[in-house]
Amino acid sequence: MIVNSVAAIPSPSECLWLDDLSTAVLVTDEHLKLLAINSAAEVLLGLSRERVVGGQLGHWLRLDRNLVSQVQQVLRMDQPVTLRGRALRPLRGAEFLADLVISPLRDDDSLGRLLLELTAVDRQQRISRDDQLRQQQAISRAVTRGLAHEIKNPLGGLRGAAQLLASEVTDPALRDYTRIIIREADRLRSLVDRMLGPSSLPRREPVNVHEVLEHVRGLVSVQLPLGLRISGNYDPSIPEVMADRDMLVQALLNLVQNAIQALGDHGEIQLMSRILRQYTISGKRHRLVARLRVRDNGPGIPEEIRERIFFPMVTGRAAGTGLGLPIAQSLMQLNNGLVECNSRPGRTDFDVLLPLEGES
Ligand SMILES: Nc1ncnc2c1ncn2[C@@H]1O[C@H](COP(=O)(O)OP(=O)(O)OP(=O)(O)O)[C@@H](O)[C@H]1O
Ligand SMILES: [Mg+2]
Repeated sequence: MIVNSVAAIPSPSECLWLDDLSTAVLVTDEHLKLLAINSAAEVLLGLSRERVVGGQLGHWLRLDRNLVSQVQQVLRMDQPVTLRGRALRPLRGAEFLADLVISPLRDDDSLGRLLLELTAVDRQQRISRDDQLRQQQAISRAVTRGLAHEIKNPLGGLRGAAQLLASEVTDPALRDYTRIIIREADRLRSLVDRMLGPSSLPRREPVNVHEVLEHVRGLVSVQLPLGLRISGNYDPSIPEVMADRDMLVQALLNLVQNAIQALGDHGEIQLMSRILRQYTISGKRHRLVARLRVRDNGPGIPEEIRERIFFPMVTGRAAGTGLGLPIAQSLMQLNNGLVECNSRPGRTDFDVLLPLEGES
């Protein structure tokens, strides 16, 4: 998207409209002093507007010599340039690949200004990969649900027959067998119920996400080993989200339970909240999204299952059923949201992303 070009732009203080763009945008003067930066650029570069405006672009965003000469060329020639797949290194943050459009801007006084538009290539590629994964997960969930359904019906008959038998037999050894059948049928029944996933449509209402996070913290705190700490770190400005509260509680509980199980006796879990701007969920771009993060400092997700954890029956635990994450994902998708994961040894983040209403 090119915002374009030699047209006059308002003074930087009037550049609030830039915040409505999904592309990261920076405006500099002819000496590459930063005049404005929009919200998308703040998020992409991990910088805050208050800190960077007035500073040199090259200080906050390392530019190789080649890039600097291209920027100077834009000023000299008064022509925009498009640079594809360039490595950018923000002062605070990891290097990433971006497509860059650099356009000259002139205001009424004919002062040279530059407009830089950045689009992270990684993010674009990730979104299309996410789409593919989402489709695969949906198919896999449908198969699991079908299977669960098939098991559920005869299971009821099996249990009923075992009960009848139990009332007929007098031999205690045989009664033990019927008890085992009934107990195992009950265990299978609850597994199958979990495989079937949420049984009702969401009842969406305004939900205070911090109240929900604190509720989940309270629920798990009672059974927490002594060496495990769980803390909250919230952005109080997040408005209420439209969601089914019980579903949100259940999804977060599944994530927190996993973190507890991954940590064992020692470690720290942090519950965090933040607002993201211009975020794409399931192919739809949202202006504002609430991100609820469950972070732990455990060993991270085992490499061999990392790509598949949202598929049913994938587990890294001997006693696991591999349903907690696919259920959390289904619950949040029913609420137009998403669960995302980033994991490495020492830091695992599970993010619940929910669009904030009142958006365009
Ligand atoms: N925070 C985490 N740290 C490390 N590994 C994790 C974390 N969360 C999930 N995992 C891995 O992902 C696997 C799948 O998680 P999921 O919740 O779907 O199933 P489960 O916990 O094994 O079983 P269930 O939740 O059905 O009892 C886990 O077995 C574990 O190996
Ligand atoms: Mg689990």
